[in-house]
Amino acid sequence: MNYFDDKIKDILISEEEIKAKVKELGERITADYKDSGRELIVVSILRGSLVFAADLIRETNMPITLDTMVVSSYGEATKSSGVVKINKDLEEDIVGKDVLIVEDIVDTGLTLAYLKKNLMARDPHSVKVCTFLEKPDRKEVEVEIEYCGFSIPDEFVVGYGLDFSQRFRNYPGVASLKPEAYM
Ligand code: IMP
Ligand code: MG
Repeated sequence: MNYFDDKIKDILISEEEIKAKVKELGERITADYKDSGRELIVVSILRGSLVFAADLIRETNMPITLDTMVVSSYGEATKSSGVVKINKDLEEDIVGKDVLIVEDIVDTGLTLAYLKKNLMARDPHSVKVCTFLEKPDRKEVEVEIEYCGFSIPDEFVVGYGLDFSQRFRNYPGVASLKPEAYM
């Protein structure tokens, strides 16, 4: 018996589809940055992008520096509060460097807009965004996204790092949940 079987409603994206997409993104990133002559700092936004970032960096074929930030915009609920708090900042100095923000999902865009502004203020050479998922129907602020894995409908999803109340991050695909799973 698979732990997830009776909790998952629909599988939106399979493990195989994810693998192929992450490979494609890694190749694009490599092609875009490898000859820049600058250091590329990959910033994984924890905890949601941990799984995606771990796979993504292994599909790149160039020197990178991995860093992390912990931000919170959500409590235990499924709606954005619009308030972003930095709970853990970068270790690296990003002045004059290329920064690639790696996110799990861009929902309203509020988190990303704040992050981008915050990092731009530190005088890097560039700040670009690679998100695993985006929900175009939910967008409240316009933020440029250079690399996007999948656009999904306005439905709450879990897996591949995304959680509901800290659970289901370890589901290997992307899925919606049955009502019982929210209890
Ligand atoms: P935004 O500020 O509204 O773009 O919120 C982005 C954050 O909300 C993400 O980093 C996730 O932590 C969370 N989030 C938004 N939609 C979902 C979802 O469908 N499943 C799980 N987390 C989500
Ligand atoms: Mg998150």
